[in-house]
Amino acid sequence: MQTSQSQSEAAIRRALLDSNARPYTRQRIEDSFEAIDATLAIAEPFQKGAAIDIGCGAGYDTFALVRHFKQVCGVDADQKAVREAQRIARLAQVSNIEFVMASIDHWVPADRYDFALCNLMSHNVASRVKLIESIVQMMKREGAAVYSDECEGYAPMEIHRAILSKDKRALVARLHQLLFGFVGGTGFRFFIAGSARPIFERLGCEVSLERRSLWNGIATTDFLVVRNPQALTSQSSILSAQDSDYAPLAGDFSELRARFVDVIEKRPNSGLTAGAREDLKRQARESSNRFAPFLLHLAMADLVLSQIWPVNSRGRFLTRVGNRLEASAARLPGPLERICLCALRVAGIGSPEKEFSWDAVSELDREFIEIARRRAGLENGIED
Ligand SMILES: C[S@@+](CC[C@H](N)C(=O)[O-])C[C@H]1O[C@@H](n2cnc3c(N)ncnc32)[C@H](O)[C@@H]1O
Repeated sequence: MQTSQSQSEAAIRRALLDSNARPYTRQRIEDSFEAIDATLAIAEPFQKGAAIDIGCGAGYDTFALVRHFKQVCGVDADQKAVREAQRIARLAQVSNIEFVMASIDHWVPADRYDFALCNLMSHNVASRVKLIESIVQMMKREGAAVYSDECEGYAPMEIHRAILSKDKRALVARLHQLLFGFVGGTGFRFFIAGSARPIFERLGCEVSLERRSLWNGIATTDFLVVRNPQALTSQSSILSAQDSDYAPLAGDFSELRARFVDVIEKRPNSGLTAGAREDLKRQARESSNRFAPFLLHLAMADLVLSQIWPVNSRGRFLTRVGNRLEASAARLPGPLERICLCALRVAGIGSPEKEFSWDAVSELDREFIEIARRRAGLENGIED
C-alpha cells in the first residue's frame, strides 16, 4: 500500500511538471500533500474507502487524498478548473480519482463517503445551510468531514494584503466580499466564526473539533471536524430555517462608529444632502453590530470605488448604474444598506476609480487593525 501510495504521489508530481498547469495549481497541489496528511490525522478515525472533495477547484487537495483512500472524487462547478484537474489525472495515470463538473446545489452522488472535505467554498454558494445538508447527506454513518468557512477577518486580511502590494483588483474583489457581508447577500461573502457548528449539530452531527485561525485578533477561518451524521430524512431538513449568512458580532464597536461619523463629516463633496448626511451618521451610531465592525471598510469602499454616497440624489453614480439600482435600493431599510448596495454594484462593474489615494486607504486599514487589536487585547504592532 505504502509503495503504491508513493508511486501515485510521484506520478502526480511528475504530471504537474509536464501538464502546463497554472503555477498556482501546481504549487497548491504540491503543498497539499503535507497539509492533507496533517488534516486527516486531526480528523481520524474513519474508514479509508471513499473520499470526496467538495469545491475541489483544479484538484488542489483532491490529489493528496489519493494516497489515503481507495477511491477519491472531486466536484466543482468551474469547468476550467475541473478540466485542468482531469488533464493532470490523465497524465499521472492515477486510476482511483474522478473529477465531476457539477454544482453542489444540484448534484446527487451515487454513493456515500467515509470522508468529506469542504474547504473554504461555502462563501461561494447560494445557501450554506443547503451546502451543509448536502455534506451530511453524503457522509456514511461512521464517516467524518472536515469543513471550513471564511470568516469576518478573511476579507479585511486580504484587503490589507492587497493594500501592501497595491493590487487594485484584489482590493476591489475583497471590498466586494465584505460589502456582501453587510447586506447579507448570497454568493461571495463571509460567515461569522462559530455559526457553522450549530447547523451541523441541528442535523444530528457531532462536532469533535472546532479551530479558528486569527489575524490581528479577528477570526479569518473556522475549521470543523464533524462525525456520525444521523440519517437525514426530508423531515429533518432545516432548509426552511434561517440561513445564518450574517449575524451580529458581540461587543462594543463605538470607536469604529465614531471614526466613521468623523469620516463622513470630513469628506468633501459627498453628494449627500444635509438630511441624508445626518441620517447616515445616526444610522452609523445606532446600527446593529452587523454593520459596525466594518464601517471603516465602507469608508474605504467609498475612496476606492467613489461615488457610492449620493444614493439619495440623482448624481453621476445613479446615471451610471441606472434605474435598477434605484428600484432595489428603495426596498432596503436604511442609508447604510443602500450605500452598501451601491458599492456592490460599482464593485461588480469592477472599475476602481483611477485616482484614489493609497495613503488614505492604508490609513483606514491601519486604524481598523489597531482598533481590532485593542478589542482583542493585543499589544501594538500589526500582523501582516
Ligand atoms: C475558494 S475556492 C476553494 C477551492 C479549494 N477547496 C481550496 O481549498 O483551495 C472555491 C471553489 O468552490 C467552487 N464552487 C463554487 N460554487 C460551487 C458550487 N455551487 N458547486 C461546486 N463548486 C462550487 C469554485 O469553483 C471554487 O473552485
